[in-house]
Amino acid sequence: MLVRDEPRAVVVGAPAKLNLFLQVLGKRADGFHDLETLMVTVGIYDTLRFSAVSADSPDALTLTCVDARSRSRPGAGEALPLSSGPDNLVMRAAFMLREVTGTQQGANIELVKRIPLAAGLAGGSTDAAATLVGLNRLWKLNLPNAELRVLAARLGSDVPFFLSPVPTGAAVCRGRGEILEPVRLPQRLHFVIVRPQSGLSTAQVFRHCRAGSATGRVEDLVRHLQHGRLHAAARCLHNSLQEPAELLNVEVTQLKHAFGRMPFLGHLMSGSGTSYYGLCQHRRQAVALAARLRGTRLGDAFVAQSRS
Ligand code: C5P
Repeated sequence: MLVRDEPRAVVVGAPAKLNLFLQVLGKRADGFHDLETLMVTVGIYDTLRFSAVSADSPDALTLTCVDARSRSRPGAGEALPLSSGPDNLVMRAAFMLREVTGTQQGANIELVKRIPLAAGLAGGSTDAAATLVGLNRLWKLNLPNAELRVLAARLGSDVPFFLSPVPTGAAVCRGRGEILEPVRLPQRLHFVIVRPQSGLSTAQVFRHCRAGSATGRVEDLVRHLQHGRLHAAARCLHNSLQEPAELLNVEVTQLKHAFGRMPFLGHLMSGSGTSYYGLCQHRRQAVALAARLRGTRLGDAFVAQSRS
């Protein structure tokens, strides 16, 4: 997460994530599933600007959502199918901060979306985490990171990952996803990500998944990545949610076949889908394969890197 202060405003760059490993371990009494997942942040960012409100309406809280594509090409792109109302995770995070601290301060929040929606890239979760950080700063609440993480877990299973106590950009997450073990990956990883036309609901994918025994171990994947053994790491990529997602959405299967015909080190669906990614040797290969994937017209293809 990138945080910058401006006069009377805080600007936060909120990154997307990919799951390199996601094992569903079993269903819990609270309806959620226990997971073991390796998540990495990648350099596709939403931008959130939190600015102070005028003195005549000091408690006003507003959210404006803008599609970055329509900003760069006015008239292009459709309206964002994203609510700016109280159900948006950004607003829920803001109201939660007010509720737990008792502050009545207001803010104008502008969200510029670049991370595709309903794509398994945690776009909503990273925006929620950015809101906790941005408003904690704008409103001078001084809540410690550990307290923000507790609020984050109430907002969604993926939200705490973006508030890691050791911001390495990678963590093995357990429980619902909220128990973090930060890991350091010494090498930048290069990906091509394709988001097909349609998205999937996380809840629906989880409803169709069957918990199973692990095919591999997340520890093996982490160790291979830490030693730069990319071929071995690629063989450990795993996502238990891919099978149910393929049953629900044929575009995921089409992407799997298209990626399988290209020389990726490995390929996988991220999170609950529908985004699909391939792991590449280096950036040059990622750029070349993204261009080939654009030719298939299976979705928006873009290149992204994890941080090292
Ligand atoms: O926590 P989050 O709001 O992202 O979860 C969305 C839905 O995904 C939940 O309502 C639940 O149905 C499902 N889910 C789950 N187990 C998890 C995470 C999410 O069953 N660990």
